[in-house]
Amino acid sequence: MKKLIPLPIRRALLPLVRRVRTVRRTLGPKKTLDAIGIGTGTDKSSRYHDYLNVYEHAFQNLRTQKFQMVEIGVHQGASIRMWEEFFPRASLIGVDISTKCKKYATDRVSIVIGDQSSQEFLDSFGASIDPTIVLDDGSHVWSHQIETFKTLFPILRPGGFYVIEDIHTSFSEPYAKTYGSPGGQTAYDFIANIARGITAHELADPAIDDFDTYARNNIESLVFLKHSVLIQKSLEARG
Ligand SMILES: C[S@@+](CC[C@H](N)C(=O)[O-])C[C@H]1O[C@@H](n2cnc3c(N)ncnc32)[C@H](O)[C@@H]1O
Repeated sequence: MKKLIPLPIRRALLPLVRRVRTVRRTLGPKKTLDAIGIGTGTDKSSRYHDYLNVYEHAFQNLRTQKFQMVEIGVHQGASIRMWEEFFPRASLIGVDISTKCKKYATDRVSIVIGDQSSQEFLDSFGASIDPTIVLDDGSHVWSHQIETFKTLFPILRPGGFYVIEDIHTSFSEPYAKTYGSPGGQTAYDFIANIARGITAHELADPAIDDFDTYARNNIESLVFLKHSVLIQKSLEARG
């Protein structure tokens, strides 16, 4: 078989062959994202919220790519370790209000200490990153989920993903007491209004503000799942 391919072509293909071998070696035996998540102990796995099969399907093209992922909410490092294993070439940025999370930094994981309730923090953090995935598993406070999305979704790469987890906290009186504010809009209602505008399209009510227009124009798809919403940005930026 080797002899059928002329030597100069074999030589030209060598870097590509080496690259494929490196990626295969780095990936090792393919574990599912859920199996990795069960191993690291995140509550995203099928043992609790059960988000990971949907995420694995959505993120499969990124698996061997070099890209940046941001997760807000590090806690005990279970999910950031999971992403590090699942995406062997990605750089990961974990954001948390607790300085205790600094210890979860590695050569591919940086930890930024910040408070997502602060617009000043969100603006300066947003200006310093270039993410393909942003996942908000932070405070779950409705207004934080909304303002974080309004600030970080526009800086996502085209075709990138934005996830808001535990959005079921938008429902029920006990959650409203913990995560809401009197008369405040729930994160679910905020996102559902955008979904309504996208789905109705030419029949939609006029956009409520500039961000609503931006979101309608720049969201490719929006998937509600149990306790979470996964939003993909359009491949082409449209103002
Ligand atoms: C649900 S835990 C994250 C769990 C982690 N992603 C996992 O799956 O293993 C939420 C984290 O958000 C952090 N947090 C709470 N309020 C925050 C805020 N205002 N800004 C940034 N992080 C916050 C908490 O300190 C906590 O570590």
